[in-house]
Amino acid sequence: MTQRTIPITSPNFIPDRTPDKPLDWSAIFGNTRPLALEIGCGTGHFVIEQARKQPNLNFLAIDFYNKGCLKTCAKIDAAGLQNVRVMRVEARWLLDKGLQPESLAAVYINCPDPWPKKRHRSRRLVNQEFLLKLAQHLMPGGDFFFSTDVGNYAEDVAEHIHGLTGYRNILQESWVHTLPDYPISKYMQRFLDKGQNIYFIHHQRDAAVLRRDLPDPGLQQGYRFDWQKAEND
Ligand SMILES: C[S@@+](CC[C@H](N)C(=O)[O-])C[C@H]1O[C@@H](n2cnc3c(N)ncnc32)[C@H](O)[C@@H]1O
Repeated sequence: MTQRTIPITSPNFIPDRTPDKPLDWSAIFGNTRPLALEIGCGTGHFVIEQARKQPNLNFLAIDFYNKGCLKTCAKIDAAGLQNVRVMRVEARWLLDKGLQPESLAAVYINCPDPWPKKRHRSRRLVNQEFLLKLAQHLMPGGDFFFSTDVGNYAEDVAEHIHGLTGYRNILQESWVHTLPDYPISKYMQRFLDKGQNIYFIHHQRDAAVLRRDLPDPGLQQGYRFDWQKAEND
């Protein structure tokens, strides 16, 4: 079924879907605070809470889902938050084209689409190539948070990131089931209400590794993104 795209008029929405050069975040936010990115913000529960807790950071919340961006903007506008902007953009596109290297103080990915069938797992967003790409964009010492309710997604990400040049595990374990002070997203709450576990992974960009020593995977192999299909999903 084709969904109607509802125009987003919020002043906190950046309408560029396919930026072709890095955006000027200090001009956009009117300050030079560090930038944090939430990938797949859904309807914005997490970013609102995190932005309230961390007024010292600017937040960019992205999703390719029109209604999610609309609802996230409505929440930001109602809360009067000055430190959050929203873009309807595909994550890998944004990383590749719209952001400077080493420009992100934190990246959050909460409950990404799980692709539970084994034959669909290659469609998962977070894989080794993606983690390599992300390492290029995290500032030295920048945080990477990943959460999922899917045990084998957590296992895969933990396996990919373990020992990967540029990352340092902040936890004693590969993952934990509670992370103090970490806001609960809408999907997390849904799974917690059903009695399921959430797996949290927290790494940092290892400040001891220079960017020139990080492997650059380029744009993901087989990378394809069909906006028309996304509109109709
Ligand atoms: C399962 S929902 C989780 C939403 C939210 N993070 C939460 O935990 O409540 C995953 C979201 O990620 C978005 N998404 C998936 N892949 C994406 C991509 N490559 N770029 C941008 N958004 C993406 C989807 O549109 C969807 O809104």
